[in-house]
Amino acid sequence: MMKGKDFLTLANCSTQEVRRLLDLAAQMKAGTLNRRLAGNYGAPPILGLLFYKASTRTRVSFSTAIYQLGGQVLDLNTNVTQVSRGEPVADTARVLSRYLDVLAVRTYEQQELEAFARYADIPVINALSDLYHPCQALADLLTVRECFGRLQGITLTYLGDGNNVAHSLLLGCALAGVNIRIATPEKFAPQADIVTKAKNLAAIAGTEITITTDPKMAAENAHALYTDVWASMGQESQAEQRIPTFQAYQLNQDLLSLADPDAIVLHCLPAHRGEEITEEVLEGEQSRVWDQAENRMHAQKALLASILT
Ligand code: CP
Ligand code: NVA
Repeated sequence: MMKGKDFLTLANCSTQEVRRLLDLAAQMKAGTLNRRLAGNYGAPPILGLLFYKASTRTRVSFSTAIYQLGGQVLDLNTNVTQVSRGEPVADTARVLSRYLDVLAVRTYEQQELEAFARYADIPVINALSDLYHPCQALADLLTVRECFGRLQGITLTYLGDGNNVAHSLLLGCALAGVNIRIATPEKFAPQADIVTKAKNLAAIAGTEITITTDPKMAAENAHALYTDVWASMGQESQAEQRIPTFQAYQLNQDLLSLADPDAIVLHCLPAHRGEEITEEVLEGEQSRVWDQAENRMHAQKALLASILT
């Protein structure tokens, strides 16, 4: 169903594709399905990682995922490849296509990622852009489904900055039938066109979407509370000045006490303790952040297997 396709945003995915990826990931995690993939020239498939921003989870989880599928990884450090000296995306993408089976790119502009996909003959995966983080949303949905045994009827609340993680969660939840509430300061709301797209997808899946500036209302009776940093990579210079604006959105015990008593706490990590989340909540009993991080690997294994076979 996804063979040979790019994975740049969940906006281009169907409910069926998301469900299938989650099922596959769960089977792979349980060990009931083991896949060994073949690449070009009868050799194991080779995944290239071209990251213009730092990464721990995405880099390592993609690497272990492809190894477990019988493939190999090439970490293409942007500082020592010709991209650092200005070789155009169009040329880099066409050249890398001749060596690799699949390429994961972490960059700033979504348009740059789209340019990679346009010029590459191999599938291109969004490993995070300023606009989206679709691989993260797959792992998040997998985690929610594991914790509650279902997605339908679950309400997830995202608090903080309406950023790349919020955008992909919005689309992922809309597709998967998870009701989603996003609470942000007014100036940091998710992008209107993405909200509209999510609402269209939600109408098909019967999902409720709430965009608000009220963190307490958003947290009430929610099954999952989720947050991310208040200043993303590339916005470091604004980090200090944003703190007062975001303070009311901090995922702390007060907000958590408004949620369902069995609510789980999620964070894509890395976390800034004392800013968007308190130490107490991050390390507390309701936190599932380490399972969530592990699930990056299982979700991406399912994604790679779906794209490569
Ligand atoms: N959550 C996430 O993408 O983490 P990294 O930046 O470490 O890859
Ligand atoms: N919103 C964060 C996510 C990091 C995984 C960022 O883009 O820096």
